[in-house]
Amino acid sequence: MKEDLKEILFSEEQIKKRVMELGALINEDYAFKTPLLIGVLKGCFVFFADIARCINLKCEIRFLVASSYGYTTVTSGSVSVGTTLDFEITGRDVIIVEDILDSGVTLSALRELILKQDPLSLKICALLDKPSRRQIPVSADYVGFLCPDEFIVGYGLDYAERYRNLPFIASLKPEVYS
Ligand code: IMP
Ligand code: MG
Repeated sequence: MKEDLKEILFSEEQIKKRVMELGALINEDYAFKTPLLIGVLKGCFVFFADIARCINLKCEIRFLVASSYGYTTVTSGSVSVGTTLDFEITGRDVIIVEDILDSGVTLSALRELILKQDPLSLKICALLDKPSRRQIPVSADYVGFLCPDEFIVGYGLDYAERYRNLPFIASLKPEVYS
């Protein structure tokens, strides 16, 4: 697997430290509240498990499945949300937890979907942000790292459903996906 990687961008230690910092910010901002954390599968699964354990508040945990990539490295421009919102959002302090904010297509679609249900508040927590790639204006309230315009894998992020199990975040050699 390692022969497919170009460079490690964020090490296990760097990620651990940053995730703890993000968790601390959320603990502070939501003190005495019961936020509803919504993880966007599948990419969030590692980040979500780690940040959830840095949050020491009473909170509700739910997941949605969204996909816009399929087996490519560029967004298809349309998002499919694989599960319906079968839980109460109205009046809740919602935090969407995402792996990466790239074109913004996925998060803007999810944001619209959730806002229709009238939450009390809505914030976005993304481990990674690639602002240079944005097609739709959407920003995250909590961002772990800004990252360069390269296709990256690991810590939950995949290329064609592979590399999610890497404990760090790395760029992929272009010949692997071209
Ligand atoms: P967006 O809709 O283009 O903002 O993309 C969001 C989703 O695309 C993320 O939740 C990821 O699953 C996936 N994605 C975007 N960039 C990358 C990348 O560099 N590596 C792996 N997955 C990515
Ligand atoms: Mg993906």
